[in-house]
Amino acid sequence: MEIVKESFEYRVYSSMDELSHEDQELMQIAIDQLDFAYAPYSKFHVGSAVRLEDKSIYKGSNQENASYPLCMCGERVALYSAAADKPNIAPKSLAITIKNIQMPIEKPVSPCGACRQVISEYEFRHHTRIRILLKSDSPEVYEVDTVADLLPLGFNGTFL
Ligand code: THU
Repeated sequence: MEIVKESFEYRVYSSMDELSHEDQELMQIAIDQLDFAYAPYSKFHVGSAVRLEDKSIYKGSNQENASYPLCMCGERVALYSAAADKPNIAPKSLAITIKNIQMPIEKPVSPCGACRQVISEYEFRHHTRIRILLKSDSPEVYEVDTVADLLPLGFNGTFL
């Protein structure tokens, strides 16, 4: 028997001011998207923005439904919107932010398992890594280099 240890690193910026101009712009768009979330059930707003290789930006926010399983996460809305419009252009960076209307959330929240799997699919499809920026109510921003860090031993098309 062998024990395999996997670890990953992520960067913590004390505020958006420490980000590149491009990343500040992307995160600000994600923040603006919080107002477009349709989250009457959870009161948990998610805003997102994805920048593609050609520098274009696609926006997303979570969209809920009275039939709860139909709710769609904000990051997937942005990624699917981009893929529907520019299927051959790789996503390069994804900003995600949240606002829980019922209580402040200080620590950056990272994508749910389903979204990790979807982000992973776009990395696989485009043979690329997608940088992920995360922010909640506090000024700090986390930066993860690839969703593979958030989804170790992930499942992808190489198995099919
Ligand atoms: N949600 C997202 O938009 N992204 C995630 O990664 C986690 C959860 C949404 C789905 C639902 O509208 C609300 O947040 C509460 O789960």
